Amino acid sequence: GAPPPVFTRQEVGRHRSLAERVWVTYGSEVFDITDFVEQHPGGQSKLLLAAGGALEPFWAMYAVHNQPHVLEILQGYKVGEL
Ligand code: HEM
Repeated sequence: GAPPPVFTRQEVGRHRSLAERVWVTYGSEVFDITDFVEQHPGGQSKLLLAAGGALEPFWAMYAVHNQPHVLEILQGYKVGEL
């Protein structure tokens, strides 16, 4: 298939709120998780701490995310790569 869209970290960083849409990175992948914010079991405010940047520092503190079903949810929101 076609190669995925490529974004810079700077561009990801411009998506930090529901109004601008909420993007995050995990590894070299980029996700638009705006539509998941309301569904997050850990609450909106915690999820928004990672808005515009990398998930890794936060997921290192909250190991509940270290499960296949969490990565499956994330994959559903992929919009491109770094
Ligand atoms: C729980 C997904 C970002 C904090 C969860 C759970 C899922 C999830 C599926 C439930 C896991 C389970 O119990 O099996 C996500 C996704 C994220 C994200 C897809 C990013 C796109 C974050 C961030 C933080 C966070 C950035 C903290 C700064 C928490 C906490 C819980 C949780 C504290 C436990 C809630 C509880 O059980 O009371 N998350 N999360 N999450 N998440 Fe996230």
